[in-house]
Amino acid sequence: MRRKLSTFVIAVLVALATAGVAAATNGGLTPVQPESPNASHTVTAYWVIVGFTAVIFFLVEGLLVAFIWKYRSRGRGRDVEGPQVHGHSRLEVIWTVIPVLILSAIAVVVFFQLPKIDAAPASAHPIHITVEGHQFYWQFDYPNKTRSINTLYVPVGAVVDLKVVATDVIHSWWIPALGGKIQAIPGRVNHTWFMAEKAGAYEGQCAELCGVYHASMTARVVAESQAAYDAYIGAQAAATIGKQEWSGVCATCHGNLGQGGYGPNIATNATVVQVTGLTAILRNGFDGPTGAMPPVGDTWNSTQIKALVAYVKKNVYKAAPVGGTTP
Ligand code: CUA
Repeated sequence: MRRKLSTFVIAVLVALATAGVAAATNGGLTPVQPESPNASHTVTAYWVIVGFTAVIFFLVEGLLVAFIWKYRSRGRGRDVEGPQVHGHSRLEVIWTVIPVLILSAIAVVVFFQLPKIDAAPASAHPIHITVEGHQFYWQFDYPNKTRSINTLYVPVGAVVDLKVVATDVIHSWWIPALGGKIQAIPGRVNHTWFMAEKAGAYEGQCAELCGVYHASMTARVVAESQAAYDAYIGAQAAATIGKQEWSGVCATCHGNLGQGGYGPNIATNATVVQVTGLTAILRNGFDGPTGAMPPVGDTWNSTQIKALVAYVKKNVYKAAPVGGTTP
């Protein structure tokens, strides 16, 4: 008896201690602080549902514990039947009607929030940006045809309309603070939107298992002033595209110094500094003796590839010793 009681007390204390931690930080259990209207509406729906279900949870579990206590055997023999209870129509009607009302209330809230999650404010003049998912990076095309890789720059407070596509396998675009997930599917165009309400950097992650480096397929949205955004898409993006390609695409498999990793060592491979040879590999992929390289650059233009070659020449490539006279 005493042991049962102490087990019960310990269970309650553990529950209370965990609840405190979960409430103090979000503990990874609740949505992150929303920073875009669509994310806010999602979180509103989330808390309404959590409110109803939490009340139901404590009601049901409380009654369960109370009944276990109230109708315990009290030393009655195992083969003796306890008091018998028969139907109770009013009770059954009540516990059917109440869930119907609760589900209706949740449905009303959710269907009221959905259009505001789905569509940007009608009055907005959105910035149209194409998000292309690749094994294993994100590529962004801005309205002036500039590109960036893995980091998307936007003006704070602007409505951004995203056209989400893929060329190889299915990926999923997800920046939790800026709205829900949307899949990037080859042969299909999906749309989503956000409006970063505060300046800052918002982290995200590809949310669809897409291959060996799925976990490295992170994304970041940087919301900054209109002037900083204009400067970025005006010149900075193009000036750094070679470096972005190296660190966001090549280095994932070949290592930061090209020393090799999942992919082979390429730091001393002369092909990486030859535009023609490299273009063929980037656009078509490559079936090597130790594994296949995906066509990571199948949508890259020649300016981009030249920028990559220039960056690699300067920062990565170490000419192999010639003539076989290595000391
Ligand atoms: Cu792309 Cu996971």
